Amino acid sequence: MRGSLFWYYNHLMVASASMTGLDRLLTVFAEYLQLDDTDCLSLPPAAYYNADLYQLEMETIFRKSWLCVGRVEYLPNSGDYITFELLGDLLVIVRGDDGIIRALSSICRHRFMPLVQDSGNTRRFTCPYHSWTYATDGRLLSAPYMEGSQRFVKEQCGLPEYRLETWAGFIFVNFDKEAPSLATRMATLDGYIANYRVPEQTEILHYESVWEGNWKLSAENSMEYYHHVGLHKDTVQDYMPAKNSYTPKPPDDLSFTHMRCGMNEAFKSGGHIMHPQGRLDTFTEEDLSTGYLVYVWPAFTMAMRPNGNNWLSFHPQGPEQTGILGGYMASPDLLEAAPDIGEQRREVIARVNEQDRLATSELAKAMHSSEAKRGPLSPFEQTIAQFYRWLARELVEPPR
Ligand code: FES
Ligand SMILES: [Fe+2]
Repeated sequence: MRGSLFWYYNHLMVASASMTGLDRLLTVFAEYLQLDDTDCLSLPPAAYYNADLYQLEMETIFRKSWLCVGRVEYLPNSGDYITFELLGDLLVIVRGDDGIIRALSSICRHRFMPLVQDSGNTRRFTCPYHSWTYATDGRLLSAPYMEGSQRFVKEQCGLPEYRLETWAGFIFVNFDKEAPSLATRMATLDGYIANYRVPEQTEILHYESVWEGNWKLSAENSMEYYHHVGLHKDTVQDYMPAKNSYTPKPPDDLSFTHMRCGMNEAFKSGGHIMHPQGRLDTFTEEDLSTGYLVYVWPAFTMAMRPNGNNWLSFHPQGPEQTGILGGYMASPDLLEAAPDIGEQRREVIARVNEQDRLATSELAKAMHSSEAKRGPLSPFEQTIAQFYRWLARELVEPPR
């Protein structure tokens, strides 16, 4: 079995003669388990397009992880729904008449027609093909002209339901019925970010896109401040320069990684567009004078400042394409102190996202060059090294 001690060593034994691209990549991943953060190279280029590795990542990681699909405020009323393609499955996230938000398969139980697209509000889902009709909790309510079928049992034709849990106003789904609860998954993080009062916040700007490139490119881009010095030199580098970034000790359970970046002196003097406003008494001096990003494996991140929070969730759509979902959230007291804060910050956030999108698509193209070589990571990229080590544990490390 993949992941067992036997499989791992057996794998390496036969390596030289018959190594596939995936074998070679897993061997490289295993090496990260022995290396310090500052002794790491970047991943081999093939890690960003190899279809077998992508498949393994989806099966081993993504189909067993909590994946963020949005915010509860997208669905304020009974009947509100949003639809998603997630890892090849078609989902509708819908608030039922009982007020409960559910994640249902949006594929009709008759002959597979997707029931609904985009987002909206409805009392029923009626299939556009033969008009089978479902309640917003997934029960089949009616199916025309099925009385003569010997196989039709209405109660057995409801829409399958996925696991869905919420955390701090975020909606997560999990394909794995056995996975520990989302609350368990986030328990350590809760302790680290309590000062930031994320559960109070609401989204004031929304971002959705598809970025060309493997999901790991988007992930890496979101977990270090080093690229401010180049990619964002005309945006966030001004007030959050790369040289001020540092990596606090990872949490003992390694359930996420995190990083901080000190604000520059001009910012600290106040009056800057990103200067902290609103209720500040819960924050430490360090919170007030730094940006704080947390990255929760495999694909959820928040880049926080006091009372403001830029979040992203990554949905792999193939080895070289990634759906991006995110937004900017604000605390109610910030909105009270500065009602136009969304307008003020909209432009800079849009520009930063666009810079990141362009960078990942350029990286994706470059990976296919025969001269694309692995390079050394900077000491400002310890979170990237931690990411590779986490991937190694998930993909190749024998079970403890
Ligand atoms: S496929 Fe939906 S009613 Fe036939
Ligand atoms: Fe960036």
